Amino acid sequence: MVYSSLEERKSNTTALSPMKLVIANFKSHKTPAQYQEWVKTYASYINKYSQTSEVALAPAYPSLSLVANEAASLPATSLAVQDISPFPAGAYTGAVNPLNLDGLHVKYAIVGHSERRQYFHETSQEVANKVHEALAAGITPIVCVTKDQVMEQANAIESNERSKILVAFEPIEHIGTGISDSPENIEATKELVIEAFGNVPYIYGGSVNEKTEKEILTNPNIDGFLVGSASLDAVRFEEVLAKI
Ligand code: PGA
Repeated sequence: MVYSSLEERKSNTTALSPMKLVIANFKSHKTPAQYQEWVKTYASYINKYSQTSEVALAPAYPSLSLVANEAASLPATSLAVQDISPFPAGAYTGAVNPLNLDGLHVKYAIVGHSERRQYFHETSQEVANKVHEALAAGITPIVCVTKDQVMEQANAIESNERSKILVAFEPIEHIGTGISDSPENIEATKELVIEAFGNVPYIYGGSVNEKTEKEILTNPNIDGFLVGSASLDAVRFEEVLAKI
């Protein structure tokens, strides 16, 4: 059976294993032609994993529409943006807000990624504003935090919006290194996240790849994974999905 959303699959008691949300964050990589190639390979195998994973593809903005068209007919696949404007539609040169995304069926927006905070000097308040704009348009924010940012980020987000998001624990020291955090630290950080945000879905990101321990990839307390480097090659990405 193919379900239309993670929620639907989670609530289906006949599902064989708990569903994970797997976000492919392509960052600033790939040409439009390379996205096309990637989706072609992905389309050849995704059906096999549609009972265990919902895959959210987060391409670079210029290829969003291309990926949206290619992925629209695929099972278990949804679309995410890597960032969203903290402002509503208006005179904000360079910003992309939900109005600009109308018709593309964007389901998630990654916000507050450590690369945005580091290289674009994004603050927790700006991230909170992005959460507000995304939610107002029916897009679910995936809020990225390090352990140190958990409390500050939760406090910056309006209290009635805190429970409507997904939180991704992203330890900077593990991003792009090839080595994921320990199962113990990932579990321990979940406690902090739940304390600060409430009972929100909990995502882990930081060198999730085909070598990541099964203990992490199949942990029922982790609702999903943000995959950077290991998503860039569609064949390698399948190896990750196969372990979930
Ligand atoms: P990585 O990136 O998988 O390359 O560590 C993850 C991320 O930045 O979310």
